[in-house]
Formats: sequence, C-alpha cells, structure tokens
Amino acid sequence: MSDQKPDLQVEAARRAFESDFERFVPFRKSVSPGTLSLSRAEQLARELGELRTRHAGKKAALAACKKLIGRIQPEERASFGQLVQQAEAAITTALDEVEGSLKAFIEVARLESESIDVTIPGRRPRAGHLHPITLMRERIEDIFVSLGYVVEDDREIETDFYNFEALNIPEGHPARDPQDTFYTTEGFALRSQTSTVQIHAMQRRGAPVRMIAPGRVFRRDTPDPTHNPMFFQVEGLCVDRGITMAHLKGTLQEFVHRLFGPETRTRFRPSYFPFTEPSAEVDYSCFNCGGPGCRICKWSGWIELGGSGMVHPNVLRAAGIDAEEFTGFAFGLGIDRTCARIYELDDIRLLFENDVRFLEQFR
Ligand code: DAH
Repeated sequence: MSDQKPDLQVEAARRAFESDFERFVPFRKSVSPGTLSLSRAEQLARELGELRTRHAGKKAALAACKKLIGRIQPEERASFGQLVQQAEAAITTALDEVEGSLKAFIEVARLESESIDVTIPGRRPRAGHLHPITLMRERIEDIFVSLGYVVEDDREIETDFYNFEALNIPEGHPARDPQDTFYTTEGFALRSQTSTVQIHAMQRRGAPVRMIAPGRVFRRDTPDPTHNPMFFQVEGLCVDRGITMAHLKGTLQEFVHRLFGPETRTRFRPSYFPFTEPSAEVDYSCFNCGGPGCRICKWSGWIELGGSGMVHPNVLRAAGIDAEEFTGFAFGLGIDRTCARIYELDDIRLLFENDVRFLEQFR
C-alpha cells in the first residue's frame, strides 16, 4: 500500500470503506419504525462501531494517509491535505449519520419494549357465586325463619320407616309406586321426599314444633325437561295445640306474598297424601300475568306450589306425639320447579348440568 502514490492510497481507503459501509447505506437518514428488531439494531450498532475503528481509527488506512501529508512536496501538500480531509469527512459523516439513526431507533424500540400500558383493563379474578337453587332455597328459608320456623338439615339416606312407614305409607301401599327410589343392599334407600324430616324433627324436638327442611330427594324418574332423578324440595311442618287448616292457608298465603308480591293469591284443591288428612294441592296466582293467563302459567292463571294438608294422626303417633293433644299442618314444595318457573327455564336439567355459561347468568 505504502508504495502506492499517495492519491491512490486515499482513494483505496475510501473505496474499502464504501464497500464495508454499503449495507449501512439504507439507514443513513433514519431507520423506519418496525423494520428492525431491537436486538438486530443493537447488533448493527456494534458492527458500525467496529467499522469506525477499522476505517477512521488510529490504525486505519486513512490515518496512514494523514501521516503522509508532511512528507508531500510543498506545492502538492495543500491539495493532498484537502483530499485526505475530504475523504475523512465523507467517512465520518457517513458513520455519524448511521450511528445517529440507529441510536434513535434503539431508544424508541427500548422504550416501547419496556413500557407498561397502564390503561389495559386488569384481569378480573373469577369469583364464584351461589347456585340459583341455593339462592331460591335461601329466599325460602329467610321467609320461614322470619315466621318463627327452624331450618332442619337431615340425612339423604333413609330407612323404609322414615321414608314410608312412619308417613302412613305401609308396605304394598300404592303411594309407594310414584316414589320409587334407589336402594342399597343394606336396606337403606335414598329418600324420595323431604317428608322424612317431619318424623326426625318431631322425634328430636317433640311438640310444639315449627320447622322447614330443604334438601335433595331422589326418584327413579327418567330425566326429561320436567324430571330429574335428583331434585330439591322444601318440607314444612307446624305442630301445636289447636292448629287448623286456617293456619296452613294463612301461612302459605303469607309465604307467596313475600316470595312473589302482595297481589299473589292462593288456591287450595282437594287432594290425597297418605300422611295428611285432609290434603290439598296449593296453587298461587301467576306472578307474571296475575290471572288472565300467559305462557308462564300455561294460560291457566295459576301455578302449582306443592302439596299440603293436616298431619295425619298416624304420623304424629309414629313420631311419638300425642295426637289427642296436638294437631299440625305440613307442606312440601319443589324448589327447583319454582326456580325453573321464575327464570322461565324450559328444561329443569339445566339446573343440574352445572354449565358455567348457564350458571353465570344468576350472579
Ligand atoms: N312429600 C310429597 C311429595 O313428595 C309432598 C307433600 C305433600 C309434602 C303434602 C307434605 C304434604 O308435607 O303435606 O310429593
């Protein structure tokens, strides 16, 4: 190199730089946002630094050219000096420009990668909530508790005595048929009605007693939109001296007032249950139309609440209560059936499938 003519040495240094610098040319003005990754830009900046050392550093070809200036013939020195200066200026300007654009790009990219968007909505923890049947059960409990009733929670696995015998349904009685349930090999059965708790409560508490017993019951029913082998009832029992059918009617009337509103009326239809005498089915006037008839009450104006009646003396006796001294009334209501009515569910099984998309609507 050094035996080359000084002008040519400068020219060679410039060319060598230009060829190394070529790939940086697109970034001279700026680096357009999004064209490089942050790490790629940082890498290029490092490589540009190496380029600077190689072409503008102390050991660069250009530095060697500068040293030549003093040795050039005086009459050529000024023009050679200019040539070297121009070359140096071109190289450093090019390097500075690209360094500037890369720095600017890196700064913005770093800020973006490290920034936190405080306006992004937080992730809401999924909170659980009560099942619609539980909500319904609690509303019913609240009403009866305020009327002076205790809430009994009793066993779901029963003996024949509590599920049938004590309730005046002896072996072979036709009332056992619609209450066919699931039996264990040890002679137990899943209770088919919450009426079992009437017996337990009277045995435990004696008389007088006022209690309700919400809970699960089981029957050998084929599932369909209005049946499920497991469902929920709430039993009611009031035993005291001088209890009459008027108390039963007044109590259930008050109950539907509180549950559905003060305009709600009740209707008692004669019926039959082995454990009550007389027995009645209770209806209430439709909470939606109030009487004229609509889709919810199937155009009858009335919705069935459940069964009721005056406790049969045989039941009092089976539970150890003196049937001469005490009388009582009882009732049994379907919790899930009422729930399905209120929420207009066309399939009661929705309440038992536990699909969160369904349940979330009852928050
Ligand atoms: N246990 C009855 C059933 O499951 C409902 C019932 C009717 C309960 C009349 C009662 C009652 O307490 O008095 O169908």
